Amino acid sequence: MDNKTKIGSRESADCQVKAEAHANIALVKYWGKRSLEKNLAATGSISLTLDALKTETEIRIDSSFQKDYFELDGKPVSGEGLKRISDFLDIIVGTEERDRAYITSKNSFPTAAGLASSASGFAALTIAAAKVWNKPTDRSILSSLARRGSGSAARSIFGGFVEMKSGKDLSGSEDYAATLYGKDYWDLRVVIGITDATPKKIGSTEGMERSRKTAPYYDSWITSTEQDLEGMRDALAKRDFTQMGELAEHSALKMHGLAMSARPAILYWNAATLESIHKIRDLRKRGIEAYITIDAGPQIKVLCKPADIEDVQQALTSVTGLQKVITSGIGDDAKVTEVKK
Ligand code: ADP
Ligand code: DP6
Ligand code: CO
Repeated sequence: MDNKTKIGSRESADCQVKAEAHANIALVKYWGKRSLEKNLAATGSISLTLDALKTETEIRIDSSFQKDYFELDGKPVSGEGLKRISDFLDIIVGTEERDRAYITSKNSFPTAAGLASSASGFAALTIAAAKVWNKPTDRSILSSLARRGSGSAARSIFGGFVEMKSGKDLSGSEDYAATLYGKDYWDLRVVIGITDATPKKIGSTEGMERSRKTAPYYDSWITSTEQDLEGMRDALAKRDFTQMGELAEHSALKMHGLAMSARPAILYWNAATLESIHKIRDLRKRGIEAYITIDAGPQIKVLCKPADIEDVQQALTSVTGLQKVITSGIGDDAKVTEVKK
């Protein structure tokens, strides 16, 4: 069969592309936008890419497809979920007059639960879509495109230690991420405690918009995050675990304090989240250096050195209601894994 077919005035080639990307955990958090339309963050952020949390996405285009189809973790997605994907592809391709796509994606971890599925999900989709539609392979451009799907996805284009910049204007021309240090720069581990695998009630986009509009501490969150970014760059440059961990824990707790101060209040934690925080603080009192961080959800992530993994795992396992412990190293760049034209 001839696989080149005219659709309107354009030519499209049927093809199938697979890509993968890893989620990331922010050491200095992004929580607030300066533009909802272009998804521009109000501050920069710094993250660590996590090899244990992966998304695999496949896109097929075929001239016979009439509509986009999106399947996530084996279930078809419709309504707003599908629209988010279709709108995103319109942005990547640069026009709504594009080939329709059949997309299947799988997250190796719970979706929409505060483990950054939007980060690995939109990073994998960006990489796959850029290949399908022959878009530029420059990684700053790919990061900028991924940002339009989800802010944290801009960071998941890269492996290792990553910084997301927040530009000065509303063009978005400076709003993309870059690697600070590659994945082999510093052998750190993140022990992840899953306390509830169900989707959160308030998604990140809604949570940060509500915080921006109603939280009384929002302005000081923005100014203090600028200082945290400087401190984190410095900690990473020196490979100073104490400075890095202390600041990461501070940024996470400050973000949750901000969200709790919104109206209506946003409280992502459950009892097991809180017990986990105390357990890790107790470990520190016993001389084991480990620091917590929590994204927009009830899961706990513990930053530690390789030698301390077992103590951290044991501390989390002893938490009432803790469902699963995953130990992660530092992940690699997002990449295309298969192409069939
Ligand atoms: P999380 O904490 O998991 O990042 P968010 O509220 O930020 O939660 O985002 C969850 C949303 O991200 C999902 O509702 C879906 O729209 C999108 N998403 C999750 N996984 C994928 C994926 N593999 N491919 C595309 N989009 C995804
Ligand atoms: C708490 O990137 O999911 O994980 O841009 O609206 O999709 P959208 O938000 P998202 O927010 C991430 C929030 C966070 C902190 C972080 O990853 O920096
Ligand atoms: Co997210």
